[in-house]
Amino acid sequence: MCSQRTIMGMQSFRLVHLLLSSIVFLFVFVLYQRILVTSLSAQVRNIEQVHTAPRLEDASHDPHDQQKDDIVVIYNRVPKTGSTSFMGVVYDLCGQNGYHVLHINVTKNSHILSLSDQVRFAQNVTQWQEKKPAVYHGHLAYLDFTRLGISQQPIYINIIREPLERMISYYYFLRYGDDFRPHLNRRKKGNTMTFDECVEEGLVECDVKNLWLQIPFFCGHAAECWVPGSEWALSEAKHNLVHKYLLVGVTDEISDFITLLEFALPRVFHGASAYFTAGEKSHLRKTKQKLPPSPETLNKIQQTRVWKMENEFYEFALEQFHAVKKRTLVVDSNGQFIDRGQQFKYMKVRPKPS
Ligand SMILES: *[C@@H]1O[C@H](CO)[C@@H](O)[C@H](O)[C@H]1NC(C)=O
Ligand SMILES: *[C@@H]1O[C@H](CO)[C@@H](O)[C@H](O)[C@H]1NC(C)=O
Repeated sequence: MCSQRTIMGMQSFRLVHLLLSSIVFLFVFVLYQRILVTSLSAQVRNIEQVHTAPRLEDASHDPHDQQKDDIVVIYNRVPKTGSTSFMGVVYDLCGQNGYHVLHINVTKNSHILSLSDQVRFAQNVTQWQEKKPAVYHGHLAYLDFTRLGISQQPIYINIIREPLERMISYYYFLRYGDDFRPHLNRRKKGNTMTFDECVEEGLVECDVKNLWLQIPFFCGHAAECWVPGSEWALSEAKHNLVHKYLLVGVTDEISDFITLLEFALPRVFHGASAYFTAGEKSHLRKTKQKLPPSPETLNKIQQTRVWKMENEFYEFALEQFHAVKKRTLVVDSNGQFIDRGQQFKYMKVRPKPS
């Protein structure tokens, strides 16, 4: 009996053991399934997020967007033309509009690139897809990409200023700086000679040869461009301004320049006009201590060949800018300049759709 009972006892013990281990196994199995499901759904969420989050790079997968984004704008700024206010807008809008801005810093502030650098630069900016659309800016003379065998053309823009005003502004800027970076030590800091005194003494810093800057910037990389008073350089500068630039604005009408850019190139400049108007005061950069020149100084400078030519170039640019503005913009009911809208359409399209 005793042994019988022992056998029966052992059998029921085995049964309980089997039952218990089954329960433990089931519990562990269910737990494992739950963890698996949770981690899988987390992965799915991650994948969904990756695919729905807007990314700058995503646009490049769509061939249509790729074409729209294949934009390289070059703004080869002439020093002291009041372009800092415009650049402020370009930098502030880059995140919102999804483009890149890059400053071209040339060693020793040279406005001319070596031949090998010309090729490097032109190939780099046209092939650098990750940085497109892009706005490049720097104090660089106009560079013709076709001469270098590069088929894609950048979109050139620029701003010019009344030449004597630009020169005087630069003269005082070197001595007193401006309210943009007031604590930066300028080259001629502490020198209090006025522009009139400088001209009277015939010093190098106010030599009219310094006026020869806007013409060579538009003329370009040819040696002749940098010869003060060259007729060829002037005519080349005019030619480039009209044929190679999308738009050239003037400092005194910078807000109209921005409005025109916004309508002509919305991919980059969308919203620039409103942004500029709203922040106009905060972006202004004024040279301190600027004295207007005396009539004698004016007279002396306006007699020179270099001033006459630079002035002719400025007048030429101004006339062109006004013509473009008149053709493109119209005043709306709020007194704001807006685009006239599309003024052309297609007719007589053949073959007719059946
Ligand atoms: C250009 O680079 C040089 C050397 O790196 C630097 O000293 C200079 O300040 C830079 N110029 C500008 C305008 O940032
Ligand atoms: C362009 O130049 C930059 C800086 O030198 C470099 O990092 C980049 O890889 C270049 N891009 C191309 C496409 O050559």
